[in-house]
Amino acid sequence: MKLFIDTANIDEIKKASELGIIDGVTTNPTLISKVSKISKDTDKKSDFKDIIKKICDIIDGPISAEVISLDSETMIREAIELAQIHKNIVIKIPMCSQGLKAVKYLKTKNIKTNVTLIFSAQQALLASKAGASYVSPFLGRLDDIGQTGLILIKDIVDLFLAQNIKTEIICASIRNPIHVIDCGKLGAHIATVPYNILNQMIEHPMTSIGIDKFLKDWNN
Ligand code: G3P
Repeated sequence: MKLFIDTANIDEIKKASELGIIDGVTTNPTLISKVSKISKDTDKKSDFKDIIKKICDIIDGPISAEVISLDSETMIREAIELAQIHKNIVIKIPMCSQGLKAVKYLKTKNIKTNVTLIFSAQQALLASKAGASYVSPFLGRLDDIGQTGLILIKDIVDLFLAQNIKTEIICASIRNPIHVIDCGKLGAHIATVPYNILNQMIEHPMTSIGIDKFLKDWNN
């Protein structure tokens, strides 16, 4: 199972990268807004590109950068600009008719795409048919509204297996370490985890107690 980190925070990405276990990065406009220092519209684009460039310098793996337009032509223009930043860029495109058109076109240009905001298996199927390299089902946001996000992951995994679909599944909107394990057990290819959840995965109270005891015994 591959682990991506779901953040645009450069410090977090550096620290996660140092662990040597991170395979890629996902960002979205909300995550970019949390780290961007720019307030004027005119500078937003170059600030966004700078952040993405920095991320590409840290992690050698797929880096998702999201378009913000809602029509396919502008999505494609944005995608082509972003794809020029680095060979590892994957264009994140929201699930909608215009997005599907853009994905289909970008596939012909060998530009990889990650169709985001997937909330049903039928959306995942359409994204894969358009040629998406990745789909990002949001399990936590389904849990938030009282639906079981993991059922969505299972539906997509089962469908892709039954149909031999090669599009990779990035489990997104991960809320806790158990989500990561459950997604892995279901056979999803990737979980993209916020930095705090990565740390929660590392720690266990019994491990800390064990380390303290070993050190104490050694010193005595
Ligand atoms: O990157 C997309 C996704 O992981 C967003 O998560 O926590 O905003 O639902 P969240």
